[in-house]
Amino acid sequence: MNVLVVGSGGREHSIVWKLLQELGKSDTIYVAPGNGGTKILGMDLNRARLGTDLDKACVVNVPIKSDDLKHLTYFARNNDVDLTIVGPEAPLAAGIVDAFSYQGLNIFGPTKIEARIESSKSSTMRLASRLKVPIPEYMVAEDRDIAMRCGRYFLQTGNQRGVVKADGLAAGKGVKVYSSFEELEKAVNEMMRDEVFGSAGKKVILQRFLEGEEASFIVWTDGKSVVPLIPTQDHKRAYDGDKGPNTGGMGAYTRPNATRGLEQKIMREIIHPVVETLPNYRGILYAGLMVVNGQPYLLEFNCRYGDPETQAVMPLLKSSLLDITNACIDGRLDQAKIEWHPDEALCVVLATKGYPDDYSDNKGKEVYVPERLPDNTIVYHAGTALKDGKLVNSGGRVLNVVGKGKNLPVAYTNAYRVIGHDGVHFDNMHFRKDIGWRTLGNDFMESVGVSKFIS
Ligand code: GLY
Repeated sequence: MNVLVVGSGGREHSIVWKLLQELGKSDTIYVAPGNGGTKILGMDLNRARLGTDLDKACVVNVPIKSDDLKHLTYFARNNDVDLTIVGPEAPLAAGIVDAFSYQGLNIFGPTKIEARIESSKSSTMRLASRLKVPIPEYMVAEDRDIAMRCGRYFLQTGNQRGVVKADGLAAGKGVKVYSSFEELEKAVNEMMRDEVFGSAGKKVILQRFLEGEEASFIVWTDGKSVVPLIPTQDHKRAYDGDKGPNTGGMGAYTRPNATRGLEQKIMREIIHPVVETLPNYRGILYAGLMVVNGQPYLLEFNCRYGDPETQAVMPLLKSSLLDITNACIDGRLDQAKIEWHPDEALCVVLATKGYPDDYSDNKGKEVYVPERLPDNTIVYHAGTALKDGKLVNSGGRVLNVVGKGKNLPVAYTNAYRVIGHDGVHFDNMHFRKDIGWRTLGNDFMESVGVSKFIS
């Protein structure tokens, strides 16, 4: 069997890692374009295969970008790809599922129209509002003056804070929180006048800022059945204590306190009403939530796996990802057997200093990952590349170190103990030391020396 994984991040590496446990020596996992980690994995497997009877699939990086639908389609057709799993949102929003399906190729994910659940935030808010899904108060503007007036309303009422969001895809950067007129004006001008996110920011959503705890509630669906993954919590801000600019995500962990006991409520009030309107949707639905005093509110939907949430979740999935994926595509998710390890997992993102702003001066540094890692620790690559035979950092988020354990403190320890000069590192590395802090609590964080920001 040949599987194509589209994307180049830690999320895609964790999917490859899981598939590798399920496939055998007559199988190939292509990654387009993959990263330094998936490249090394392929080379290591080839070496291990020499003179042995290694029962593992081949892993091959394919130099086609994840948004190059034309060449991805050619590649899948010419290389007998039996299944394609798409990591990032951009190819889904551009219609990769439509293009592959038109050619009779088997692919996991929503169609272009269905992917609007992520690529048009205003349509999703309208849908949620119509379905009475709990959402923050919001308004939509396609004109800068109107946006300023709507935004000012949130400043002058309630908790006097608001959020400006680009309507379209902005690579995780199109969300700005404001608590003053100046901040509102800056965000609106960047999106609507300066078009820093291109056409994605021509229309904006102004939302009431909700004070609570964020959580990621991700489900598989075939349009009829819905099966949740283990709930997770991401850490979007760059620095400890949820300070600094928003990033793509600096770390994630499983089963946060925020969603404990709320799973059925989330399914009933948020997931099921929306899935009922999407009878042909086959893929992932990822609800970004804010939980306020035990009430979950939908902030947005994504149409793909979360990054770095997936890196924390894949090590705990006991069942076959291939079987679940095919069950979704074939519309028989109700028959899929889905089991999880009872452990917890915690993922720490190692980023290049400067990320999410300009980090170009800090790229090209050698990245060290010990050949042997302790049990219960996994390193997934993201922004890495092989240059002259050396592994170097090539992006903002470079590596994901995942610790597993019988509880969250053990998972935390298993992740962090391998980070540093004797272990996983590179020059100008930046990472948060407080992943999981909201659930781990003050005493634990104090015991590891990072308590000062918890009130
Ligand atoms: N964890 C944030 C995202 O995947 O969009």
